Amino acid sequence: MNQTTRSYGLKQSTNSELSCNSLVFWETLVNPTRLVRALPQIRFQKQLSVPSKARAIMNSKLEQTISVWMQGEGIPVYGALTQDINADVCVVGAGIAGMTSAYLLLKEGRTVIVVDDGPIGGGQTERTTAHITNALDDRYMEIERWHGQEGARLAAESHTAAIDRIEEIINSEKIDCDFERLDGYLFTPIGESPNLLEQELQAVRRAGLSQVESILSCPLQNFDTGPCLRFPRQAQFHPRKYLAGLAKAILHMGGRIFTQTHIAKVESGTPARLRTEMGLTITAEAVIVATNSPFNDFVTIHTKQAPYLTYVLAFGVPRGQVTKALYWDTENPYHYVRLQPMPNDVPASAMLGNPLTEELLIVGGEDHKTGQADDAEARYDRLETWARARFPVNEGRRCHWSGQVLETIDGLAFIGRNPLDGPNIFIATGDSGQGMTHGTISGILLTDLIVGRSNPWSQLYDPARKTLSASDRFLKENLNVAAQYGSWVTGGDVESSEAIAPGTGAVVRQGLTKVAAYRDEHGQLHECSAVCPHLGCIVQWNHNESTWDCPCHGSRFDKKGHLLCGPANTNLVQSTGLPDASVEFKAVSV
Ligand SMILES: Cc1cc2nc3c(=O)[nH]c(=O)nc-3n(C[C@H](O)[C@H](O)[C@H](O)COP(=O)(O)OP(=O)(O)OC[C@H]3O[C@@H](n4cnc5c(N)ncnc54)[C@H](O)[C@@H]3O)c2cc1C
Ligand code: FES
Repeated sequence: MNQTTRSYGLKQSTNSELSCNSLVFWETLVNPTRLVRALPQIRFQKQLSVPSKARAIMNSKLEQTISVWMQGEGIPVYGALTQDINADVCVVGAGIAGMTSAYLLLKEGRTVIVVDDGPIGGGQTERTTAHITNALDDRYMEIERWHGQEGARLAAESHTAAIDRIEEIINSEKIDCDFERLDGYLFTPIGESPNLLEQELQAVRRAGLSQVESILSCPLQNFDTGPCLRFPRQAQFHPRKYLAGLAKAILHMGGRIFTQTHIAKVESGTPARLRTEMGLTITAEAVIVATNSPFNDFVTIHTKQAPYLTYVLAFGVPRGQVTKALYWDTENPYHYVRLQPMPNDVPASAMLGNPLTEELLIVGGEDHKTGQADDAEARYDRLETWARARFPVNEGRRCHWSGQVLETIDGLAFIGRNPLDGPNIFIATGDSGQGMTHGTISGILLTDLIVGRSNPWSQLYDPARKTLSASDRFLKENLNVAAQYGSWVTGGDVESSEAIAPGTGAVVRQGLTKVAAYRDEHGQLHECSAVCPHLGCIVQWNHNESTWDCPCHGSRFDKKGHLLCGPANTNLVQSTGLPDASVEFKAVSV
């Protein structure tokens, strides 16, 4: 990590950031409905200050940036679990994978509990750009190399079925979530040979997507992309509104949803037992751990997938001037683009743009391995330059955010029985940038496995699979992880915590150990061990989100060390400084 690229001063704010982050605050003041909606969040914040042993609470809102979806209508927050409870199936994680699984299992007549330690959708599902697609991130050419022609065919079949299933659910539950079918276009960067597209077209056709075609250019007025592939019948939606609809349907069918309930441990057995952070027990015949990164699989899965941060900007564009479609290029990392109507509640629209004359253009990309770069502003700038050169963008950025995706070594998610665990413990992880379809495939496949129905996709997505043809990627990612342990013997980011400016953080060496030190806006220092509780890598400061990110397997913690996402399942251990009652105290040494 190049220290000179880091900012140890006050967090730099752009205009767009101010508009994005202050939005909720101002709207809450002027709009009583919003105040009511915000109450659960206020209650949630209050909980953090309640002394408790090793409390670990996840909520993407504890990151600094806010996505477009997080600014509109919220999902009603359900209460925490307060007593021991039992069901046929317990689903941990209320993102798209968990909520779809719960919904489909209820349809099969199973009793289902969903537990989440944040609000519904508060993980990566609120940070997605929600391209719903069967045009796979890693390209069908590669999927075919890793999984064979039949594997590629099943991948195409399953992602296509997932788009159809999302549409079916939306129609049957009458979910108002801006769902639209539209085309997707894959193009090469300027100056690159279109041969790649030709080869991809052949692979796509062999996989059974016979309607994909090569055309001369994307239907964009201001940007001649050159030849591209058109994938028909893709889709997009508003992910939070979709989850809100699923939540309503789950409750309607008798499912129970508990938020702010952290699962500390999952034990297989008949029944399986889940222990909550507060000491309550959930018993269930089957357990689905749909926490994006499974905390109950300590090593196996995490050697086969790698965490990447990805960045998104939203701009206003004149309504109707950009053809509504999904767009991707083949750069590495690739750019992804879509449109979204301006949010229709008046104050949000006023802040994001004029819904009568504008729509939002959402542009993402600039991925890097989590915890291995801290130069978000340069990445946002490059994204902006890229977007302005190709689209009729109005004025400044309207919103920006980042999030994490988990990329498997062989391009497909891990969905099925957790390896080395009991037969009734299931996981769903490794979505890459295809969590909307992979999350839906999880629901379909895990439901089949739990009710005892055979499913043609089960081997393809089996978490225990070994893909020998992807061993080069396996080696590359694991050598990269091994190299991260070198941080144990290097110096800190700064000589001492005195050098840390208010509102920012840095890793400081203290004797044999390293400390994650954050100085708040009032100048008070908060120190935790910088050692990730998963497998002991040293976390890195992320000034864009004010988080501590682990460069090994992607665990992330807020500025004071509270867990945001796994595979770690506890907070960073407080080491020195003033006590933060919500983080357990332990001395840390090497
Ligand atoms: C910027 C960005 C753009 C993306 N774009 C796309 C796209 O265009 N198309 C696409 O298909 N995918 C996209 N993705 C990927 C997609 O968003 C994710 O893969 C998907 O949302 C993951 O859903 P999930 O249900 O698996 O996990 P999450 O939504 O992260 O949900 C997991 C839940 O588990 C809870 N949890 C974790 N641990 C515990 C515990 N111990 N106890 C209780 N609860 C726990 C968390 O609080 C969280 O709510 C994108 C992702 C990002 C970040
Ligand atoms: S996430 Fe594995 S060591 Fe931190």
